[in-house]
Amino acid sequence: MKTIIEPFRIKSVEPVYFTTEEERKLILENAFYNPFLIHADRVLIDLLTDSGTSAMSSNQWAGMMQGDESYAGSTSFFRFEKTIQDLTGFPLVIPTHQGRAAEKILFSILGGKGKYFVSNTLFDTTRANIEYSGAEGVDLVCEEGKHPSIPAPFKGNMDTESLQKFINEKGAAAIPLCVITVTNNSGGGQPVSMQNIREVKAICKAHGIPLFIDACRFAENAYFIKQREESYANTPVPEIVREMFSYADGCTMSAKKDAFANIGGFLAMYDETLAQQCRNMLIMTEGFPTYGGLAGRDLEAIAIGLTEVMEEHYLQYRIRSIEYLCNKLIAAGVPVMQPAGGHAIYLDAKAFLPHIPVDQYPGQALVGALYVHGGIRGVEIGSLMFGKYTPDKKLIPAQLELVRLAIPRRVYTQSHIDYVAEVIIEVFQQKGTIKGLRIIEEAPMLRHFTAKLKPVI
Ligand code: F0G
Repeated sequence: MKTIIEPFRIKSVEPVYFTTEEERKLILENAFYNPFLIHADRVLIDLLTDSGTSAMSSNQWAGMMQGDESYAGSTSFFRFEKTIQDLTGFPLVIPTHQGRAAEKILFSILGGKGKYFVSNTLFDTTRANIEYSGAEGVDLVCEEGKHPSIPAPFKGNMDTESLQKFINEKGAAAIPLCVITVTNNSGGGQPVSMQNIREVKAICKAHGIPLFIDACRFAENAYFIKQREESYANTPVPEIVREMFSYADGCTMSAKKDAFANIGGFLAMYDETLAQQCRNMLIMTEGFPTYGGLAGRDLEAIAIGLTEVMEEHYLQYRIRSIEYLCNKLIAAGVPVMQPAGGHAIYLDAKAFLPHIPVDQYPGQALVGALYVHGGIRGVEIGSLMFGKYTPDKKLIPAQLELVRLAIPRRVYTQSHIDYVAEVIIEVFQQKGTIKGLRIIEEAPMLRHFTAKLKPVI
């Protein structure tokens, strides 16, 4: 097979910013070893997130000019609504300014003390919105999903046996909703199979529990189904997408991922009563139901992006480019989550830096080393993000110490990715020189965004 090329030409470019290793050492020190505190123009390759960082197409930019900015009944809203209805089959569509706004509305209505929301894995903002309502979030990912280095085709699947057991234990009345996250971001961007969605639906249906999809990366998930689930090898992606949604009662969506938009999101569903409650809250927090916290031009960009993302040459390139990076790292012996996810690679920092104990945050230390050595910005997904303390202030570490390098959509070329691989491999060869970190200042919640750290000497 020939090289899979970027399926686009570049019409508009922006500079990347070069700095020297000496400069970056100082920049990192001044940012207290926290990549969120580094100014973006001091970063060469920015892999902090794939959210809101996509390059829009010329069609999307053209659509922006056609945005109808009417407060009520904007034509852009009706285009947006029809696109989502056709894509998902859900008749009721509610725009929001981003994914977590959709979550906030949904879980404020359905949540509350004594309730449980079950999932393969809830993303952190989803979990936070559930917990803020007083309810509990319960992750029931399959066994394969818990082992970074063991490859399996659908490591994002929900464990249906545990789901059944949990429902028997707590009773369906305490479970307002089941949420399947596709792909499973907190679990390595791993996909969920159609068969698993079907099985989860059957269990939920038998107990009268509605099923929602957290659909941020629906197209990437659909492409994995096409590649890995035999009976779908010849099914067009839009049909796979439609079938995925056909098992659900609704979805939350961040349009900042698979809709190639820089901002936006939505809720979609069948239930008219629930939709009405959502719209009432939307008016209070986001805006009128035909714009929901977005400009008309954003609605246009999202509608166009949602169609573009299902183009198979794009998805082939997208999935392949992550796999390409993952394979280069595996070949060099770098410990990385396998197989490659849909939007990011995840380095296993515990295996990468075995000399750094978990209470010295090996993931954060690795993030710093990648920045200093090559100007690459990633994010720790480990004990800095998820760690808790015992009453006597000892760290309760996270299950895994990972570093996520998320690849923005349509932004970097193969030579950027080759460079990223070279930097990671060089850092791996000098891993013994990397030092652990300690926290000198932290917030009580979501501390990773603002924490200040210092090297352990
Ligand atoms: N659900 C998932 C699976 C996500 O990955 C995100 C965001 C959200 C919901 C929330 O959407 O950002 O539009 O409010 N993930 C980003 C990330 C922030 O970097 O993975 P949002």
